[in-house]
Amino acid sequence: MPDQISFDGAVVVITGAGNGVGRAYAHAFAQRGARVVVNDLGGSTDGIGGSDAAASRVVDEIVAAGGEAVASFDSVATPEGGQAITDRALEAFGRVDAIIANAGILRDKSVVKLDTPDIDAILDVHLRGAFFTMLPAFKWMRANEVRGRLLLTTSASGLYGNFGQANYAAAKLGVVGLMRVLSIEGAKYDITANAIAPAATTRLTVGAEGADDDPMSPRKVAPLALALCHLDNSVTGETFVAGGGKFSRTWLALGQGWSPEADEFTPEAVLAHLAQIRSTDEWFEPTSAMGLADWFTAPSDAPPSPSAAHGAS
Ligand SMILES: NC(=O)c1ccc[n+]([C@@H]2O[C@H](COP(=O)([O-])OP(=O)(O)OC[C@H]3O[C@@H](n4cnc5c(N)ncnc54)[C@H](O)[C@@H]3O)[C@@H](O)[C@H]2O)c1
Repeated sequence: MPDQISFDGAVVVITGAGNGVGRAYAHAFAQRGARVVVNDLGGSTDGIGGSDAAASRVVDEIVAAGGEAVASFDSVATPEGGQAITDRALEAFGRVDAIIANAGILRDKSVVKLDTPDIDAILDVHLRGAFFTMLPAFKWMRANEVRGRLLLTTSASGLYGNFGQANYAAAKLGVVGLMRVLSIEGAKYDITANAIAPAATTRLTVGAEGADDDPMSPRKVAPLALALCHLDNSVTGETFVAGGGKFSRTWLALGQGWSPEADEFTPEAVLAHLAQIRSTDEWFEPTSAMGLADWFTAPSDAPPSPSAAHGAS
């Protein structure tokens, strides 16, 4: 086993840490020596109300176990709330080394029943909330030349879709776009950004938090969060699925594709070549949208560039 990693001296901010996955993160970071800001609005799973109880309870648990933590009760869903969360870390501990946008709610409805308040509430907490959480911390890290670690929370629903979760899925895939750009803009400064799609029994998914011996306990997600937020980690811009005893990377890639001849720019020719257009035998993972430029101009029968291409065969 490698040496045990430590977060001694580091300040880690976790939103939505009053319950579930965020609470498991808070405990795990505190156990490894981090000073933790436990943020939680303390409302219901559909985002109604608020209370100091959830964040205060987790801070009490951490302190009782010998760790160091302070509470923040601000909502991630407003710019003022997001700024106040980073400010809480700065006033309590003087710095922010890692920040995790984890807060979440659900308003599941099939598309025919979905109305604007349920779209707005979900986008406000998950997508706009990710911006409001990350931007103040990222700006502070840049201004203070801190090698920051940013972690965002996506979902299998966003990555792959799920019935009844159009609002949530759209927000959660938007989070991946934000993470990608944070990773690109942070790279020069050793600020990494990654995303985790957790899978865990929590009040959000099954109505109650899984016990420690539950195979889907939120605690089974935490080791990946700690690994990605440690300075030993330089992986950035990547998305992982974690839970139920598995950690796995998931990614967006581009197939080798089909390059039509001059007389083949027709829908009929496209239909005739759909299998080749859809083929995933050879694939390429652009490092940014700019990385697509070479791909557009390369003929599809040309071998993919070795640095960028991968294939099943
Ligand atoms: N549990 C899973 O299987 C699963 C699957 C996919 C994604 N996720 C994501 O993981 C994250 C954590 O979910 P969880 O399952 O632990 O749920 P949870 O309900 O146990 O915890 C989420 C916490 O976020 C807090 N919160 C909600 N709105 C907030 C706001 N505006 N500001 C601050 N705090 C707020 C809640 O009070 C709650 O304590 C969420 O982003 C969720 O979408 C979870």
